[in-house]
Amino acid sequence: MSDVIRAEGLRKRFGDTQALDGVDLTVRRGTVLGVLGPNGAGKTTAVRVLATLLKPDAGRAEVCGYDVVRDSVRVRAKIGLTGQYASVDEELTGTENLVMIARLLDFSRREARARAKELLARFSLTDAGGRAVKTYSGGMRRRLDLAASLINRPEVIYLDEPTTGLDPRARGEVWDTVREVVADGASVLLTTQYLEEADALADRIAVFDHGHVIAEGTSAELKARAGRQTLAVRAADLYRVEQLTTIVADLTGARPEVQAATGLVTAPIGDPAVLSAVVRRLDEAGLVAAELALRMPSLDEVFLTLTGHHAEPAATETVTEGSLV
Ligand SMILES: Nc1ncnc2c1ncn2[C@@H]1O[C@H](COP(=O)(O)OP(=O)(O)OP(=O)(O)O)[C@@H](O)[C@H]1O
Ligand SMILES: [Mg+2]
Repeated sequence: MSDVIRAEGLRKRFGDTQALDGVDLTVRRGTVLGVLGPNGAGKTTAVRVLATLLKPDAGRAEVCGYDVVRDSVRVRAKIGLTGQYASVDEELTGTENLVMIARLLDFSRREARARAKELLARFSLTDAGGRAVKTYSGGMRRRLDLAASLINRPEVIYLDEPTTGLDPRARGEVWDTVREVVADGASVLLTTQYLEEADALADRIAVFDHGHVIAEGTSAELKARAGRQTLAVRAADLYRVEQLTTIVADLTGARPEVQAATGLVTAPIGDPAVLSAVVRRLDEAGLVAAELALRMPSLDEVFLTLTGHHAEPAATETVTEGSLV
């Protein structure tokens, strides 16, 4: 069987909120599915259903061929879950946390210690193993959390926003460990609000919005589906960004986005010939371009095309035409 997860028509309602509104998903063995979506899109709810923690109102899902409702015990033996919020005990040391979880999973005392040691080494936590978790950095906690979910060597691993709140270095460390786990043959369902995380780790991406999968495919497929290429141009003289924006708007007929910090002006274009027209107009205006490119849309632009809003409102500070001073 090549699909480790197969979900069809999952629905879940909380009061007035339709958290899942007919979700179809598949995860192929040995791959990472990235579930990408803004706050409240239904990502955690989908993970909880697939992890047998929540019964769907309708629809069905199988993990490793077992039904998540009827065969939940068998499903649980196959999966590891790292929740959105750290689940390890702050007062215990890293080693004690892992040993305790291993004991709960029926490991003998000796096996539990051996497995804890192995996982701490694997996640570069050997030196920290004897320290209380409350002294760990955010990245170390996340790695310990990930280690804890791997104790019983799960075939399928759920990672719910594994790097939210981490700095770039800690995020990179978590990404490396996820890659290792996949290299070892596990399959991963990873939720994230970060487009670059889905781009970096996921073989395929399912875009969630309002409890629906609104698009599914590889990162390249999603970008191609959004279709139009993007013109990106930056003036050498940052003070002329407004003039540049007017030219780009004029030639593309689109409403350009301006990155306040860098002065980069971007706009979707339908006709690649616009590029040479832009070059001519810049020349006429005596405007020197420090950067001028045609590129495929970023995943964020894809998200914007699909949903009408950015995936990460806080991450990219953009101002629209004319509002720059
Ligand atoms: N136990 C619950 N009771 C009531 N409403 C809930 C419950 N769990 C989730 N919801 C609602 O269902 C919707 C989907 O929530 P969910 O946690 O699945 O979103 P999410 O995509 O994981 O968001 P985030 O990125 O913020 O973690 C939200 O509107 C949320 O408020
Ligand atoms: Mg969530």
